[in-house]
Amino acid sequence: MATGLTLSEQFFRDQAASGASGDLSTVLNRISLAARMLASEIMRAGFVGKLGLTGDSNVQGEQVRQLDIISNDIVSQVMDHAPMIAGIGSEELEDVYAMPGSEHGKYVLTIDPLDGSGNVDVDGAMGTIFGIYRRPEERSGLPADVADFLQPGRDLVAAGYVLYGPSTMFVYTAGGSVHGFTLDRSIGTFFLTHPSIRIPEGAGTYAVNEANESEWDDRTRDMVATFRRQQSRCGPRQARYSGALAADVHRILLRGGVFMYPPTSSRPEGKLRLLYENAPLAFLISHAGGAATDGRRDILDITPTELHQRTPLYIGSSGDVAEVQRLLGPGRD
Ligand code: AHG
Ligand code: MN
Ligand code: MN
Repeated sequence: MATGLTLSEQFFRDQAASGASGDLSTVLNRISLAARMLASEIMRAGFVGKLGLTGDSNVQGEQVRQLDIISNDIVSQVMDHAPMIAGIGSEELEDVYAMPGSEHGKYVLTIDPLDGSGNVDVDGAMGTIFGIYRRPEERSGLPADVADFLQPGRDLVAAGYVLYGPSTMFVYTAGGSVHGFTLDRSIGTFFLTHPSIRIPEGAGTYAVNEANESEWDDRTRDMVATFRRQQSRCGPRQARYSGALAADVHRILLRGGVFMYPPTSSRPEGKLRLLYENAPLAFLISHAGGAATDGRRDILDITPTELHQRTPLYIGSSGDVAEVQRLLGPGRD
């Protein structure tokens, strides 16, 4: 049920509560604008011939879809009007995009413009994942570069995701509670529908791509087998996996459980990227009472050394993440 409070009013409340200048609200409002533009593009993509691959690969060596590029362009264009953002680190851009004329911007933005883009052509859920970091003060006045981004998730100022499902949702935290907003498409406004979300314990699903089992190490195999056999409060634990991290984390945030992307023999660091997937979602889920680990360390404690760094990811209800850690044991590498 919508409460009548809009997303921009919530940004204003956050701003008033923290005594902030309003710059963060401007950035978040711009992300919400990009999200509404993207929701519209995604909805119409099938009609206007924007499905499918471009034929190119991105910096990760992954095939790029037309909507990946459109999403990245929308984010860059929308942020052109947010001079407090000095630079953007995006999944789709090999290097940091230093915003022209924004050298004095006090924030940098990390973004996965379209998460789960493999779902584009099958009308499946997708997302946008974002994180906002404060720039080191001594870098003010310089064009943004990678040094601005190599900060642990614990230092995020705000983080969240947009979910493009049957409805479009904007879920974020600016360091306090996690709130969820649902888009009323007819008037283009997000309304608060999920105030102060707390992740449930002990009842949830597990989400993992079990097709990778032959590439897991023995501990991972045994750990997943344990989850598969477990009983939850509501009967046997169920598996759910959508192919879009944001959608799987959203389900887990509301219902409980754990999402896993373990290391595989072909991807020893796992698949998911620290700066624009794992850390923002870890920040958000931690503010909802959950946890995230790479199997050894809290995701929020990892200081990246590269823009597109990957880490394994286990994220969800605190009890489940502690169980993952216990089952993987110490000294894993
Ligand atoms: P992206 O579309 O941004 O590249 O992200 C895809 C990610 C993530 O959303 C999802 O959980 C995971 O890749 C699925 O990977 P597998 O197909 O290897 O399971
Ligand atoms: Mn992604
Ligand atoms: Mn993506």
